[in-house]
Amino acid sequence: MNTNLNETPKISVLFVCLGNICRSPLAEGIFRYLVEEEGLGDHFSIDSAGTGAWHVGERPDGRASLVAQQHGINLDSRARQVQKEDFERFDYMIAMDRENLRALEELRSETNSNTQITLLCSHDPNGDNGDEIPDPYYGGASGFENIYQLVHQSCKGLLQQLLAA
Ligand code: 4NP
Repeated sequence: MNTNLNETPKISVLFVCLGNICRSPLAEGIFRYLVEEEGLGDHFSIDSAGTGAWHVGERPDGRASLVAQQHGINLDSRARQVQKEDFERFDYMIAMDRENLRALEELRSETNSNTQITLLCSHDPNGDNGDEIPDPYYGGASGFENIYQLVHQSCKGLLQQLLAA
């Protein structure tokens, strides 16, 4: 672990998908769980948002909440849309798929921000699950267990990489 963490500002991470009711709330919940498991909750600022506005104000999709619960994680976010101001607040934006990535890069280009934008899957240490966390919205509940595993594996890699940076 990076022993200088106490002397540095909080590491701020925003997870981003399309609707902010399935993938990114799951990523936020899993990443927060991993951070707290390491006793590092005070050193991180963690949130999620969507590139779209359709579900603003909503709780996570029931299928995402259920799969998280089955793994001992409680999701308590409310959907919100990414704002330009987020590029002043967050060091890292972690996109679930390439469409989210492109939308974030376009928004960033309208700011002077240095926020790093990456695909969540690029942090998977095994790198054998493809580039994207697939959109599970129109699929069945079983898709959410698959998403959980993909997100969990990549979030573990992301945390290790951020602590080593
Ligand atoms: P998410 O999933 O981007 O992982 O939150 C979706 C949620 C809603 C919609 C699409 C994807 N939608 O079309 O409403």
